[in-house]
Parts: sequence; structure tokens; C-alpha cells
Amino acid sequence: MTHACNWFDALPLSRQRKLLASTRDGLAVIIDGRQLLNFASNDYLALSTHPKVCAAAKNILDKRGLGSGASRLVSGDSPLLHKLECELAAWKGFESCLVVGSGMLANLGLIQALANRHTHIFADKLNHASLVDGARLSGARVHRYSHLDLARLEFLLQKFPADKRMIVSDGVFSMDGDKADVVCLLKLAQEYDALLIIDDAHGTGTVGKLGKGLIAEAGVSGHACLLEVGTLGKALGSYGAYILGSSPMIEGLRQRMRTFIFSTALPECVIAGALAALAEIQTTHVVNQLQDNITYFLEQAKALPLMPSVTAIQPLLLGSDEEALYAASYLHEQGYFVPAIRPPTVPEGTARLRITLSAGHHQQDVDSFIKALSNLV
Ligand SMILES: Cc1ncc(COP(=O)(O)O)c(C=O)c1O
Repeated sequence: MTHACNWFDALPLSRQRKLLASTRDGLAVIIDGRQLLNFASNDYLALSTHPKVCAAAKNILDKRGLGSGASRLVSGDSPLLHKLECELAAWKGFESCLVVGSGMLANLGLIQALANRHTHIFADKLNHASLVDGARLSGARVHRYSHLDLARLEFLLQKFPADKRMIVSDGVFSMDGDKADVVCLLKLAQEYDALLIIDDAHGTGTVGKLGKGLIAEAGVSGHACLLEVGTLGKALGSYGAYILGSSPMIEGLRQRMRTFIFSTALPECVIAGALAALAEIQTTHVVNQLQDNITYFLEQAKALPLMPSVTAIQPLLLGSDEEALYAASYLHEQGYFVPAIRPPTVPEGTARLRITLSAGHHQQDVDSFIKALSNLV
């Protein structure tokens, strides 16, 4: 019998991932008592620590306690969950919305609920792991096209006809920061009678004048062939995820999606925090603040070999694992937190620093950070 100690192959040191027992204090990450300025968080609008967001969560925590105690279909449901679903659907321009436990659960459950071994899925090669694994779990035939290569996607759509087909893509790509061409994807979906699923976890709260994300920016919200997935754990500063679509589609998922049916509902305080964050996004200039920071960073960082991106995700490609680890540790010494992102999270030979910008960064933070980055390249 295989001994438990021998279950996993040994990983080279440069591939091992470490948990740092770090704590966060606003925009700082504290490791071993040392404060580092965080350029590696998806809390793009710094709402996870916003006083109004925290007060809203605390108010509900004090009144109703912590856990929801059961799945939503048993006794874990709450009017706050319904309120959040209505507000997200209205804000994003979709008929209906389903809030679920996390982005990972959303994508695993959604694709598994919709697809089976007769379905053909057409997927961008750089899709997030949750979309990759959702497709795998569903048992569907998966055709992966090179990143953003719509000619290749069309070729595959022509080559593999089927009764049920879906195109699946990140909106803003999580490790690259570039954007899918949602309008062209939707055109292809219509022409080849496919459903389009866009995970805009990183576009929500960051892209478009009002932060509504890539799909609203493209003006195709609420389209009958389209489903949008997003998370509450990034720009909304909380935890959880949502799926947006037509009413029959969302009702179908409520009935069939296993990761929704068989999983404990999100705590109400988490939902109260998300609602307060959504209100901040809609009523303040926090999205503009982030977008100004992105523009400022791009202007100041022109000399750096950044990957092409105009979003809050600004990767600096380094190549080898060792180079990326060295860069991360140099920045750590200089007082910045940006861990190295290595395979299998990104393709072999493309280890990088995944720099993320936040509405909470000040211009002087950006200036001194860019100075430190310049010493690396
Ligand atoms: C594009 C994308 N989808 C889904 C997820 C998973 O979301 P969650 O962290 O809520 O499970 C992530 C998380 O990083 C992501 O980047």
C-alpha cells in the first residue's frame, strides 16, 4: 500500500508554495511583524476594510450571528441574499441573479449543471482554473483555443457541431490583465448557436466608467445567449460569487446546480458587507480613483517591460521561476508585497510578478514602487 508520506511527487524548491501566516492591515501585509505595502490583492477598491462596509457586516453579525447553518434550500436563506441578487441583476443589466458560495463553486457548478458528455465546450487556453475544472467535471468535450485567438475559435466551432455548445472565457484574464473581446465572442456564439459564459471576476468594480465590468462596457448585458459570472471577494471586498442570466436560466440553476444545492449558504454578515460595498461603488468616486491610479501607473511605468494590460492587473513577465522568486524577495526587502506567480498557475516559462493596483494606493506609493521595480529590469 502506498504510504501517505509518499503520495505526492517531490516538488523542486522553486515550485514550492509557502503560506506566510500574513495578516492585513488596510493596504499593508504584515509578515513577521514587518509591514509591506500590498501590490498583490484583488481588493481593487480597498472596500474590504472600508468603515461603512465593515460596519454593515458587523451590524448583521451582532444581530444574527455568524454562520448560516444550512444550504439556502434548507434553512440558510436570507432576505439579504435576495436583496443582493436583485441589486446585482439591476446594476449589471441582467434579468436574474444567483448568489453562490465562491467563484470556484460558481464555475464548477454552473458548467457541470449545463454540460454533459454530449456537450462541446470551447475555452480560451488561459481561462481561470475554476472554468477549466468545471469543464472537466462536466464530462463535456473540451476544445481549447489559443489565448484570445477568435479565428481559431471560429475554426473549432465550424469543425465540431453539436446540439449543445458553449464558449467559455475569462472577461479580464486573472493572470494577464488583458480583456476578452466580448462583442466578437457574442457574435460567434450567436452565429454558431452556442451559449457564452464570461467570468468577469476581475472586471467587476474595475472596468467601465461605473465599474460595471466588461460586459456592461461592451453594451451586451442581459443578452439571451449570455451568462456572466463574478465574485464578491475581489472589488466588492467581501466573499462569495454570483451568476447573472435570464430568469429561466437562473431558475434552472437554482434547481440543478449541485454546488449551490449542496453547500452551506454564505453568512448574512458577508452579504451585508457586499451590499454596502455595492452601494459605495454606485454612489462614490472609488472606481474613478482606481482608474486614475491605473492611468498614473501606466504613465510612470512606461520603461518597464510590463505585459500589455490597461486593467488593475499589471503583470511583469520574468520567465523562469528563479527570476520571479528573486524579484519577489527583492521587493519584499524593499517593503513591497508581490509574490511570484509560477506554473502551473501560469504557463511554463512565463513566471511573473502579478502586480495589482488598488484605489487605496497613493501616488507616492506608486512612485516608490516603480522605482524599486526599475532596479529589477
Ligand atoms: C476569473 C476567476 N474566477 C473565479 C475565481 C474564484 O473565485 P473565488 O476566489 O471566489 O473562489 C477567481 C479567483 O481568483 C478568478 O480569478
